[in-house]
Amino acid sequence: MKKALFNRSLITYVTGSLLITVIIGLVLSQFIENNWILLAMLLLQYIFFLLMLLYIFNKYIKPIDEAIHSVNQLLKGNYRSRVHISSPGQIGELGQQINALARSLSELSIQEQMHSEQLSTVIENIDSGLVLVDDKGYIHLVNRKFLSIFGKQTKDYVGYIYYEVLRQKEIQETVQDTFLYEKSMKHSLIKENDTDQRHLEIVGAPIFNERHLLKGAVIMFYDVTEFKKLELMRKDFVANVSHELKTPITAIKGFAETLLDRGHEADTSEYFLNIIYDESVRIQALVEDLLMLSTLEHETFQLQLATFHLKDAIDDILPSIKDHAAKNKVSLHADIPHNLLITADQEKIKQVIINLLTNAINYTPIDGEVNLTVEDKREQVVIYIQDTGIGISSEHLPRIFERFYRVDKARSRHTGGTGLGLAIVKHIVETHKGTIDVDSKENEGTTFSIYLSKHSQ
Ligand SMILES: Nc1ncnc2c1ncn2[C@@H]1O[C@H](COP(=O)(O)OP(=O)(O)O)[C@@H](O)[C@H]1O
Ligand SMILES: [Mg+2]
Repeated sequence: MKKALFNRSLITYVTGSLLITVIIGLVLSQFIENNWILLAMLLLQYIFFLLMLLYIFNKYIKPIDEAIHSVNQLLKGNYRSRVHISSPGQIGELGQQINALARSLSELSIQEQMHSEQLSTVIENIDSGLVLVDDKGYIHLVNRKFLSIFGKQTKDYVGYIYYEVLRQKEIQETVQDTFLYEKSMKHSLIKENDTDQRHLEIVGAPIFNERHLLKGAVIMFYDVTEFKKLELMRKDFVANVSHELKTPITAIKGFAETLLDRGHEADTSEYFLNIIYDESVRIQALVEDLLMLSTLEHETFQLQLATFHLKDAIDDILPSIKDHAAKNKVSLHADIPHNLLITADQEKIKQVIINLLTNAINYTPIDGEVNLTVEDKREQVVIYIQDTGIGISSEHLPRIFERFYRVDKARSRHTGGTGLGLAIVKHIVETHKGTIDVDSKENEGTTFSIYLSKHSQ
């Protein structure tokens, strides 16, 4: 009714009032004889009608019409629409209220748009795969990480029922269990690619609406490959340590038992005692190396940085290494520039040089040579430890820095090696933000090169 009234144009009202005037004229003509007077009266009345109409139209109908138009625009989602009513009183207030409503709707819609943009940015960029399934099992969304794990494109998944496009049994079970039990469910999956293997953890979480009815499920895919690798490394490490300890402990126990049986010649007893001593030294070395590695790996570990002369530091350790070289009939030469100052952890740098020189001597046959050379290169120091020893074949070379990796187990054991020396060296050098290189030829010799900045950190 209202709508019909306000929607009519002015001309309808003008024609309407003309019609009313004619009817009034017809009724009055019964009583008034003089046509001129009647006509004048009708004219006056019509003009009065028109003025009234114009007033009402401008004051009420036009603004309300405009308000209706504006509300319609708002309903359609055009939140920029505004009413321009200047009339005072209630109509003007209505206009202002509609404008205020439009402003807050527009703010709300901007906020909602921002929220949904933020949400989709988060979903797209999280480091886990994500799939959204509705209560009928149709896929509504897959994110970038999911596509990078499973391949293909969004259009190959969205709009399909999950079991048509997600063929893996483990994924289907996760979705089914999540819907069935209406709580979070977890499964693991090993995804074989052409080049590698990824370990995935699949977690399904149900989505409920405000009336607690199940509306769908979010399926997340976490890539736990690195974590699995670390776990495997940790297991290997524990197994290796136990194995390394087992041999000397068995020997010590065996020889001690034999000694306890008594009735041995003095020199046999001494022989047994020597073995026990050597094996204890081996255990001690192993424990010391393990402690060193654990210290280096500890989160709170910090280098004890100081500025010192590299030559002085190396001169401190050379005498005992020269002894070792002499025992092995290997000649050792050192060439270190004077006044070469570096800022580093002195004790740790000494440890690096001791480990590398000990290896060079141990893996060099009688009459061989070991050279320690230091080069001063402006901002950098390069330390070369070169030997004329047995060398390392290219097949073993990439692995020698791994813990417990040895080319020849028996030889390493014979020299008192723990298999951890190079792992410690690499760790120390890298903590100093330096690098270590190795170059070797079987039966010719090996050169280790360490590049250190003169001002670590
Ligand atoms: N200078 C070298 N010449 C030949 N082989 C070496 C040399 N340095 C290290 N290696 C090889 O690398 C392995 C690992 O070295 P390292 O970690 O110091 O353990 P180890 O306790 O066995 O010496 C050694 O067992 C040896 O096979
Ligand atoms: Mg060693």
